[in-house]
Amino acid sequence: MTSFREMRFDDLFKINSLVFDALTEVYSLTFFVKHLSQFPGLSQVAEAPGPDGRLMGYIFGQYQLKKTQEPYGHVAALTVSPEYRRLGLATALMDYFFTVSDLKGASYVNLFMRTSNQAAYQLYTSMGYAHRQTIADYYPESAYELRKYVPRHMEVQ
Ligand SMILES: CC(C)(COP(=O)(O)OP(=O)(O)OC[C@H]1O[C@@H](n2cnc3c(N)ncnc32)[C@H](O)[C@@H]1OP(=O)(O)O)[C@@H](O)C(=O)NCCC(=O)NCCS
Repeated sequence: MTSFREMRFDDLFKINSLVFDALTEVYSLTFFVKHLSQFPGLSQVAEAPGPDGRLMGYIFGQYQLKKTQEPYGHVAALTVSPEYRRLGLATALMDYFFTVSDLKGASYVNLFMRTSNQAAYQLYTSMGYAHRQTIADYYPESAYELRKYVPRHMEVQ
């Protein structure tokens, strides 16, 4: 059975097969190490059953708390290995991150994606993420910023 758990530093040695995907954003080892230290509990992996503990996919999340903005969760990277796609893993990883962001007090979760990435667009819009803006040349191509707001109860006085 697939298990989901928090990403550990030693997982960084296992993600090579995942980051070679052309649509997966590749960051330096320094970025990943800094990210895991700065945002503990916000990155998760899906692990295949078996002694090798093969990684099926991962999400790197951030929580941004700035004076001038409402707090928000940010998906820095999401990828699922090609042989494990269309099984609901990305949906589960995104759901996890949305819930954690909500519990931390985020107003919304956002992400940036290549405008040509139709699979990602389908995934996010099917989960309620909506287009916020288009940014030219964010990648070697334009990017969409997508957002999903956390529903909050309104207090009526
Ligand atoms: C995009 C990606 C993360 C989706 O992962 P996944 O685990 O296959 O996604 P899910 O199984 O949770 O898919 C949920 C829904 O998303 C949509 N979807 C996912 N992949 C799709 C595809 N290739 N084409 C069309 N719709 C797709 C479907 O609506 C799907 O529901 P369905 O299978 O019932 O039709 C995966 O294809 C991937 O890692 N791609 C390369 C890296 C990447 O693009 N990351 C996102 C960068 S912003």
